[in-house]
Amino acid sequence: MSKIKTIYTCSFCGFQAPKWLGKCPDCDQWNTFYEELARSKPAASFSAITGERDNHPQPINQITVNGEDRVSAGIGELDRVLGGGLVRGAVILIGGDPGIGKSTIALQALIHLARKEQKVLYVSGEESLRQTRMRAQRLGDLPDNLFILAETSLENIIEEVKKLNPAILVIDSIQTMFTAELESAPGSVSQIRETSGKLILLAKATDMATFFIGHVTKEGAIAGPRVLEHMVDTVLYFEGDRGHSYRILRAVKNRFGSTNEIGVFEMGEAGLIEVLSPSELFLSERPEHASGSVVVPSIEGTRPILVEIQALVSPTSLALPRRTAIGVDSNRTSLLVAVLEKKLGLPLYNQDIFVNIAGGIRLNEPGVDLGIVIAIASSKLDQPVPPHTAVCGEVGLTGEVRAVSQIAVRLKEASRLGFSQCLVPKNSLKNIPAQGTIEFIGVETIQEAIEAVFNRKISNKLLKK
Ligand code: TYD
Ligand code: MG
Repeated sequence: MSKIKTIYTCSFCGFQAPKWLGKCPDCDQWNTFYEELARSKPAASFSAITGERDNHPQPINQITVNGEDRVSAGIGELDRVLGGGLVRGAVILIGGDPGIGKSTIALQALIHLARKEQKVLYVSGEESLRQTRMRAQRLGDLPDNLFILAETSLENIIEEVKKLNPAILVIDSIQTMFTAELESAPGSVSQIRETSGKLILLAKATDMATFFIGHVTKEGAIAGPRVLEHMVDTVLYFEGDRGHSYRILRAVKNRFGSTNEIGVFEMGEAGLIEVLSPSELFLSERPEHASGSVVVPSIEGTRPILVEIQALVSPTSLALPRRTAIGVDSNRTSLLVAVLEKKLGLPLYNQDIFVNIAGGIRLNEPGVDLGIVIAIASSKLDQPVPPHTAVCGEVGLTGEVRAVSQIAVRLKEASRLGFSQCLVPKNSLKNIPAQGTIEFIGVETIQEAIEAVFNRKISNKLLKK
């Protein structure tokens, strides 16, 4: 009999050590180590799962592929995030807060896929068969080809999958699954790594697309080791605000498509509904003629989305004024505040500054810089941005407005939503095709931008008052 050994594993990155450690030497996280029993057997190999005996190197051009191996998931926004549909054998991890709609989107996709005469299997480790059926009923007519299984044992799941041979498998959730080969509890790092590892091999071996649904921790990372994200092909995060009904599905890793692509949904009575024109949604409550608000045509993945940036600048009562940014990077915002102060002499050192993207969407794109600058200036000067004006541009440390990508697409979206003029970086002008219905004003510095928007000369004396 082999001796049982304990080992300590970092719950954040999966690093293992023979002793407990306060700080993980690999990922620098504190207090993440916990005790586990060390495994004695090696992990299953690819050929063991596939049952292929003579697994040997083959010339790449002699591997047979059946044309384009993508199938539509039946939900346009999901297909978009996946990079144009589901790839056979791909493993997709969907993470997100509880109640955000992970199970719902998986079931909805399965219902669509099952209607196309494909056998699909939904494995629930959290709900009974009856509960799953009740939930699925809300989403539409239930096809014959949608199979459900309430199971948490990996061995049983693999056996059932081999018998049923479905085209798509959903595991809801990966944290509830366990393998009998390990003694640690379901949800522990080694269980997650082991069960997902085997299921990934199974997916690759049988060309079955697989969705893992994953819980997230308080910090927003997928619970379990980071290695889970490295192992799968695609990682999608479901985001959204409790207070709003819309949800954003974001690709953070995709071996078969671009990342940063987002899908926008609204949670309705019968499941998730695609939002085909997100700009309209995000601008629907915009106050016109209010200072501190400006619209920016931003790019998310390949799609332009118009968002409203709001800023509130008010005198502080604190020794250290507050700087809060929601939806945009707060370091970036501090940097832009410093540029405004230095280059325009705008006195902001004694002001609290709050910046928010209306609607709760998160933007990670430099093209919104000029929007942040204009929103802050608008609030400070207490002068509204003219209602049909949008702005976009990246701002550098010397106050210069730098070119942004895909300017033509941004302008087209702004013009579609009724904007009549847009401030753009002068350097982007050459990339704008023949003039459409929108007038664009090229600017080189933030001073020029502010003068153009507020239609007044900026003199340092005036601003310092
Ligand atoms: P769910 O998919 O169970 O979330 P997760 O799997 O991410 O935990 O979503 C459940 C939430 O969505 C719950 O608050 C109820 C709501 N919901 C609707 O509003 N309409 C519907 O048709 C469905 C199925 C759920
Ligand atoms: Mg769920």
